[in-house]
Amino acid sequence: MSVEFCGLTLAHPVINGSGTFDAIAAREVFGEELRERFPFAAYVSKTITLAPRAGNPPPRLWEASAGLINSIGLPNKGLDGYLREDLPKLAELLAGVADGAHGRAPVPLITNVMGASADELAQLLQACEERPEIAALELNVSCPNVDTGLDIGADPGQLERVVRAVRASTRKPLIVKLTPNTADVAACAIAAEHGGADAVSLINTLRAMALAPGAGAAWLGAGTGGLSGPAIRTVALAQVAAVAARVSIPVIGMGGVRSAADAQDLLDVGATLVAVGTESFRDPAAAARIARELARDPRSKTAAAGRAA
Ligand SMILES: Cc1cc2nc3c(=O)[nH]c(=O)nc-3n(C[C@H](O)[C@H](O)[C@H](O)COP(=O)(O)O)c2cc1C
Repeated sequence: MSVEFCGLTLAHPVINGSGTFDAIAAREVFGEELRERFPFAAYVSKTITLAPRAGNPPPRLWEASAGLINSIGLPNKGLDGYLREDLPKLAELLAGVADGAHGRAPVPLITNVMGASADELAQLLQACEERPEIAALELNVSCPNVDTGLDIGADPGQLERVVRAVRASTRKPLIVKLTPNTADVAACAIAAEHGGADAVSLINTLRAMALAPGAGAAWLGAGTGGLSGPAIRTVALAQVAAVAARVSIPVIGMGGVRSAADAQDLLDVGATLVAVGTESFRDPAAAARIARELARDPRSKTAAAGRAA
């Protein structure tokens, strides 16, 4: 079932969506068992910013029909805290994951970073470049630009300029995580490719709002948040299809995946890898189940390739 992705060999095509599976916390809860049954073929960190962030005021979650609105606000220790405290723990965990055949195979680490300017992003990438534990980088471009206030990833011209400006900061594979909150996601994907991205990933959460029952005012402390889960699956499918048809770099598809059939839909429209996000909150082993079922799915190209090998 192995898959080639930007020069990395992954055991199967299922990874996690950034910010939806805390591997360090999971290690504390599940202990060694997590290494024996690690669910993802590559592990994506939550978003890291240059300076530490406290995140948004509570409440931060709202359960919607068939989905979740979150306004977590990217709390994190900042670049230095991540490199000093989290990276060694992640590297130690991922180096010793069981490969399913009585051996150990390292799971590649993809570090997800966000900056409000090309300069901030370049600093993040340069610092990560020096760390061999990091296999690839993902740029979260759902961040307002410090100068324009517009989300960096929402405007193709701005996105291409930013990716081009930071590309030389790393030789590691560079994935651009597109925002779905834009008029033309395919144009943004093409811009990322022209700027030098090695891959794109999508979709991030869709901007959404919920009112506190009976209060007529926003429930979430930040006012609005991002919708994820089954409610966005068909939007994700449309956006992944539109992007995969227009770029020649690999695409990581995500949004509402709960089953192998959902994952296979994204692979069928052109994704190379599929990420599981919100479903991991319901079932931390969901990605492992999906990868196992994909291998058995007669529609699965990866299963077919595996059988032919
Ligand atoms: C609680 C939560 C936190 C998230 N944090 C991040 C994050 O730190 N960085 C990021 O790029 N995406 C983040 N995402 C977006 C997910 O990675 C994913 O793109 C999105 O949730 C769609 O997939 P899903 O429907 O399977 O959850 C977050 C999503 C959720 C639900």
